[in-house]
Amino acid sequence: MEKYIINGGNKLYGSVRIQSAKNSVLPILAATVLTDGKVKILNVPQISDLKNMVKILTGLGCKAVFDGNDILIDSSNADCFEIPSALAHELRSSVFLLGSVISRFRSAKIAYPGGCDIGLRPVDLHLTGLKRLGVEITEKNGYILCKCDKLRGNDIMLDCPSVGATENIMLAAVKAEGVTVIRNAAREPEIEDLQNFLNCIGAKVHGAGSGTIRIEGVKTLTGCEYQPIPDRIEAGTFLIAAAMCGGEIVAEGAYPENISSLIHKLRENGCKISINNDKIILENHKRLTSVKTIETQPYPGFPTDLQAQFTALCGVCAGHSIITENLFETRFKYVPELRKMGADITVIGRNAFVRGIERYKGATVIAHDLRGGAALVLAGLSAEGRSEVVDISHINRGYGFLEYKLRNLGADIVRVAV
Ligand code: EPZ
Repeated sequence: MEKYIINGGNKLYGSVRIQSAKNSVLPILAATVLTDGKVKILNVPQISDLKNMVKILTGLGCKAVFDGNDILIDSSNADCFEIPSALAHELRSSVFLLGSVISRFRSAKIAYPGGCDIGLRPVDLHLTGLKRLGVEITEKNGYILCKCDKLRGNDIMLDCPSVGATENIMLAAVKAEGVTVIRNAAREPEIEDLQNFLNCIGAKVHGAGSGTIRIEGVKTLTGCEYQPIPDRIEAGTFLIAAAMCGGEIVAEGAYPENISSLIHKLRENGCKISINNDKIILENHKRLTSVKTIETQPYPGFPTDLQAQFTALCGVCAGHSIITENLFETRFKYVPELRKMGADITVIGRNAFVRGIERYKGATVIAHDLRGGAALVLAGLSAEGRSEVVDISHINRGYGFLEYKLRNLGADIVRVAV
């Protein structure tokens, strides 16, 4: 196990290069199973979720070779349709493989997916969508077993705009016979990125980013070289870090329009933010003012993946805030840890009632999930005194070289083995 040791109080100055989006690269990797063509994905993030996804692909018989920061995938010899349960439990995005594996092998077997413990995380919408395409599904002994003679396009209406279900259905529909329409589809930028990747290998997908996606089945797919979009959640995490610690940072290689909801809220807090193409510059040298309410929503609303980090910021703003988490049932597990640092936050159901304090006090805290763990790091960076964030394996899942990037900005943070 590893932990971070942080001496808080340093302001942050300088530039940070944003990694490719974790939540783009993972479905794109799942999509490589669909094609026999060689695929090169550029500048992939050095995170454990990606390494685990590569292990799953290798287990399916795909060849995966890292070339610097790029990864080369050749699925022409893929010959297995079963995803090992140990790996499936490691990450949520293993479930996306259902769509591409069933498309390739007409069969698929996967244990229920893992991922952050932030709620129930059902897969009913994934399975309902796949059934609409002609897949027979059996759920037995913790496994999902799929088989189908032929995938046929269909009209699918999602009960809620699930990111994963949208992506899974897209992957299954790309080589189905006929046309598939996904209504009430998720509109996240990562969905559009997956569409662009699929079209890059010869698919015919249109409408991603709107609520309706149309997929015309094709017979063959090719290879390609692809640069995923930057990670809007990593960019947002660094902006919130600078807002909390004070200073002036530049998030480089970011897409400001993908986190406009956060930028609006940080400006409302009193941060000075300017945009220059793919650079977001945030400057702050004072104690910020609370925003009254934050409600997480599907894109383009305020992202649930920045809820914990933003709540940590609200914890040291002047005034009161109410944070409502609308997407996941238990995404406030980090709050008891923040309270160890002096936070005055009360959670009732899906709401966190925050009364801002002057400053956090350093403490030893435990990361329970990826974004909650990141929030604790941000609190430690701004706190008075020394903090330890324990069990940072959760944080490794989504942030590459986090301590290096923060140290380059002036933070006093080291990773140590426990
Ligand atoms: C993706 O998870 C992301 N993960 C999550 O990021 C992100 O928080 C989430 O989308 C929402 O934006 C990846 O892309 C790998 P959903 P996913 O299906 O697909 C309900 C991070 O920190 N739902 O959009 O699992 C579900 O309960 C991670 O990077 C069903 O009811 O999210 C939730 O309330 C955490 N039935 C809501 O939809 C289903 O079949 C949103 O879930 C599927 C989902």
